[in-house]
Amino acid sequence: MGETAKIILGDKTYELPVITGSEGEKAIDITKLRAITGHITYDPGFGNTGACKSAITFMDGEKGILRYRGIPVEELAEKSTFVETSFLLINGHLPTRAELNRFSVLLNDHSLVHEDMQAFFTNFPRSAHPMGILSSMVNALRSFYPKLDGHSKDQDIVVQMTRLLSKVRTMAAISYKISMGHKVVYPRPDLSYCANFLNMMFDSPVRPYKMDDDMVKALNVFWILHADHEQNCSTSAVRLVGSARVNLYAAISAGISALWGPLHGGANQAVIQMLKEIHAAGGDMEPFLARARDRNDPFRLMGFGHRVYKTYDPRAKIMKAMVHKVLAKLDIHDPLLDIAQKLEEVALRDAYFIDHNLYPNVDFYAGILLRALGIPTDMFTVMFAIGRLPGWISQWKEAQDDPDWKLHRPRQVYVGKNENKYLYMDERLEL
Ligand code: CMC
Repeated sequence: MGETAKIILGDKTYELPVITGSEGEKAIDITKLRAITGHITYDPGFGNTGACKSAITFMDGEKGILRYRGIPVEELAEKSTFVETSFLLINGHLPTRAELNRFSVLLNDHSLVHEDMQAFFTNFPRSAHPMGILSSMVNALRSFYPKLDGHSKDQDIVVQMTRLLSKVRTMAAISYKISMGHKVVYPRPDLSYCANFLNMMFDSPVRPYKMDDDMVKALNVFWILHADHEQNCSTSAVRLVGSARVNLYAAISAGISALWGPLHGGANQAVIQMLKEIHAAGGDMEPFLARARDRNDPFRLMGFGHRVYKTYDPRAKIMKAMVHKVLAKLDIHDPLLDIAQKLEEVALRDAYFIDHNLYPNVDFYAGILLRALGIPTDMFTVMFAIGRLPGWISQWKEAQDDPDWKLHRPRQVYVGKNENKYLYMDERLEL
């Protein structure tokens, strides 16, 4: 046995293997712990638990590093496209020209959504949240697109992955158009993935959408920054649900539901709401900071803090720079950006935020960028979901192919009543 960790329980010492990751991360392998000691570990929120070995994304929360398949996110944001980054995450390497062409053709071929699905979008109440619609519609994809006859399991998975990447983007735009009572715009084969999305969202019979390469670049960067983030809440949901060997659509639908939460992907919408409230209060941010510092108040400064990053989120830096570029190009002055920058400045000098290592995360500036692109606030988390798809898909695929993979089934420490007797109604005491 190589490096080991010793655990002493009573008068017995047990040795457990230590695993070392390719970036030197250490983990104590406790897979045999219960069998040899009768004990389990207790780790609410899984902050100290490695649920899998993964070769997809590396992040160092202390140094603020994020790499997909070894490539720094900064480099991908500068040089790559969302489609190329998706290929990289799913297949483990950057595509050759031929591979990228084939991938783009597949995405184009699968970009249409079954016409019968439009009835579902129409029948959701107009007030329905787009994340609820999206998770339902993604789950429904399996009913509309059952396994293809004559396809091997591998071919079927490639088709499912491509369908998701291409159709979810189309579905998001359909959902928006229908919620507005507007005519649905179909994807076009002559437009790139991101340009197509903008066109499906904003083209109208009375006002053709004017494509701007800088906005297309901004959307590529936005989605690259969201493409994967190792074992976050929604990805863990995808892996956990997928561990029951459910189909990919159902697993991704679970990820979308998890992402909806305001502590996760829902934070980008919550940040804008918070900035608007500060704006409405005449820009006075002190009451918000005071509430964030108060341990008895559940309020949190949205867009601040992260389970893993204890320094500035590298994605937030790129997002902030992109916000400045896009606003300058569109010649927009957004008062929410002024408030966000001031809030960041004040919070980063504040003892509470310094002591708790709270820095802006990816969501802090994301909403300001999306607003500038014309995306409605209630669709912000949908934008995160489209970006996170290649990550969810690649993590699901990695898990499916993992020979060590098991049905996810955590244990618990039971703290309820000991064996108890059933009482008939007239034996029960009235309280
Ligand atoms: N504002 C005020 N206090 C905070 C905040 C915040 N945004 N975040 C953490 N804290 C405090 C928290 O109150 C606690 O304080 P104490 O130890 O004194 O009781 C301490 O920091 C640790 O909090 P925690 O909840 O145990 O930390 P965590 O690692 O579970 O938190 C988090 C991660 C993202 C849930 C949290 O920082 C948060 O709620 N942030 C606001 C929501 C947000 O912006 N979410 C987006 C995350 S990035 C996008 C994504 O990948 O999902």
